[in-house]
Amino acid sequence: MTDETQTYRGCIFNLDGVLVDTAKYHYEAWRQLANSLDFDISREQNEQLKGLGRMASLETILSWGGIYLSEAEKMHWADVKNNWYIGLISNMKPGEVLPGVLYFLRQVREKGMKIALSSSSQNARAVLKSTGLEPYFDVIADGNTIKRQKPDPQCFLLPAEAMGLPPAECLVFEDAPSGITAALLGGFTAIGVGRKENLKQASVVIAGFENLRIDSLLAQHSERVFI
Ligand code: G6P
Repeated sequence: MTDETQTYRGCIFNLDGVLVDTAKYHYEAWRQLANSLDFDISREQNEQLKGLGRMASLETILSWGGIYLSEAEKMHWADVKNNWYIGLISNMKPGEVLPGVLYFLRQVREKGMKIALSSSSQNARAVLKSTGLEPYFDVIADGNTIKRQKPDPQCFLLPAEAMGLPPAECLVFEDAPSGITAALLGGFTAIGVGRKENLKQASVVIAGFENLRIDSLLAQHSERVFI
């Protein structure tokens, strides 16, 4: 049960890089595509793709390789990459959930708060299934329902609405700077997951979920008293 003084009644989690590390699988599949077109991409370049949708990622990669393709060719390569990616994530295991995540999700649940997923990926459900995370979520918003790219706040407004909660009552956990901006534009409290220097706009930045207590996060934001 949430108590009456509790400001926050829901948590919205981004998936890739927050709950699981799928960036390495996106990288492997995008790299295979780049190699097929006779160029290469680095891990540093891959960092810039985090949070970008599939077609936007493809456009960026093609520009790095100086490759010009027709729209039909782009659709073809996006499908090829996606099939490679699906092959990689179908072998994911529950052990790939990042440290501390399950314990944190259980704490959130015990506080009586709702839990939603927000991911730009159309493959988010497949990742949740293969890692065993799916039962933890009340609401799943993914690339099939979210149509606007971050920093548009649609990615968080949709799951908040589906939970029946206003943005002011939701904590957003996000690793991409564009996602932090999206959360703030939507009126959410943004918790950055990763390195402070990359997530300057976030209210609080955590390195990850290991040893993280929901009570201490809520206490840090208790100035926003719910009436
Ligand atoms: C997330 C990832 C991106 C990925 C996007 C679309 O935002 O961070 O790297 O491109 O989802 O994923 P999809 O599985 O639909 O191609």
